[in-house]
Amino acid sequence: MPSESVAQLKRHLPGLNEEPFIPPHVPPELIREPTFDRPNQLSDPFSVTEGALETLPPVFYWPKQRPGHSDGTWVVTHYADIRDVYQKDELYSTHGTANYQVLVGETWPMIPIAIDPPDHAKYRMLLNPWFSPKAVTAMEADIRATINGLIDGFLPNGECDVAYDFGRIYPVRVFLNLMGFPVEKMDEFLKWEYSILHSNHNVEKIRFGVSGALGYLREFIPQVRAKPNDKLASGIVHGQVEGRPLTEDEIIGTMFFLWIGGLDTVAATTALMFRRLALEPELQQRLRDNPDLIPEAIEEFMRVQPLVNSSRLVKKDHEIHGVKIKKGDRVMAFNITGNFDPAEFDNPRELRFDRPSNRHFTLAGGPHRCLGSHLARRELRIALGEFLRRTPPFRLKPGADRTVVPGLMAVPHLPVVWKT
Ligand code: HEM
Repeated sequence: MPSESVAQLKRHLPGLNEEPFIPPHVPPELIREPTFDRPNQLSDPFSVTEGALETLPPVFYWPKQRPGHSDGTWVVTHYADIRDVYQKDELYSTHGTANYQVLVGETWPMIPIAIDPPDHAKYRMLLNPWFSPKAVTAMEADIRATINGLIDGFLPNGECDVAYDFGRIYPVRVFLNLMGFPVEKMDEFLKWEYSILHSNHNVEKIRFGVSGALGYLREFIPQVRAKPNDKLASGIVHGQVEGRPLTEDEIIGTMFFLWIGGLDTVAATTALMFRRLALEPELQQRLRDNPDLIPEAIEEFMRVQPLVNSSRLVKKDHEIHGVKIKKGDRVMAFNITGNFDPAEFDNPRELRFDRPSNRHFTLAGGPHRCLGSHLARRELRIALGEFLRRTPPFRLKPGADRTVVPGLMAVPHLPVVWKT
């Protein structure tokens, strides 16, 4: 067998390799193994990347194995290169992103994330109206009621687990309402979601979550097909792209990805934000004294808490800073360094609620820039605003574990207290 075929085979069959497979075109001096993804207890958990822009090459190879890929990935660390990765869709594809469905033998793509331009635009056109600032404003009263209902429940206790009993719950309620899924399904949705995103790559658990959610969607779709309503799931089932109805696979792929995309991201952002406020009371006081700063504070919290480093599949051989990148390689946009690049942000490690321009990558960029960005911002603003309005200053409960696990897991539990 020619060596190229062996190489191709190895990179897609993790079981063949004990060591991560490193393609032959990777210069050994560009191989790095950063440890930023280890749990830490720092007040600013993302400060672990301080100095990384100076010590790491602007593009390096990380031989990190992930489920389904035995080889590693190129990583770009600087703001301008990350922007190129997001924007240059002639070079980079999202094909295969969030491919959880393959674990249960299904082959449709996640929509819109795994569809490249120009086809991608037709799905965004269908979905955009549901996520516009105007649509989000129409949801605001419901979001506020959901959030206040949760605060009513724990306010008299003088304490709550703000990650588990608040941040984990409200995005799911908002999402069920947006889609028109029955609220009684809340616990099951939470259970499936947790199995998919928090199983530490345990394939059996991920399969359980994926099959549960898909099974439910397949029961739900005929119901809404028979009885349309004004909710998003019905908009997808009865929607059209290019003048035709969506296929069954397109409907499932769209609903499933919306569900994956919109829950943990908001939950993890909430937990990290409250953790920082509990550990740094002067930040909390500044927002209590100036609630008008909350929208900018949310943007700044998102900048300093980049949860996801997006990856792309390379479509054509090309070079980045003279380094040869080949078709079939992967490139990761290292938002955890790009959001702190001094070429874009003054004093990047400082948490400032008055940044004149804050074009961070926490919601990605280019054609796949987060569809739910307006909704996410509104949810976070209301959650923070109502919590600060209704509780006295809070702090971490004595003895609470302050460990942050980077990535979406973030802080699963965060007990805070405000009683004296
Ligand atoms: C703070 C909360 C959120 C964060 C940090 C976040 C982050 C992201 C990121 C990084 C991407 C791009 C991924 C990539 O390029 O590989 C993305 C895309 C997406 N997000 Fe969000 N997201 C959040 C909230 C939401 C919400 C609430 C929803 C919907 C309910 C949502 C739906 C989507 C969708 C559908 C896409 C795919 C867009 C496309 O491919 O055109 N997200 N998000």
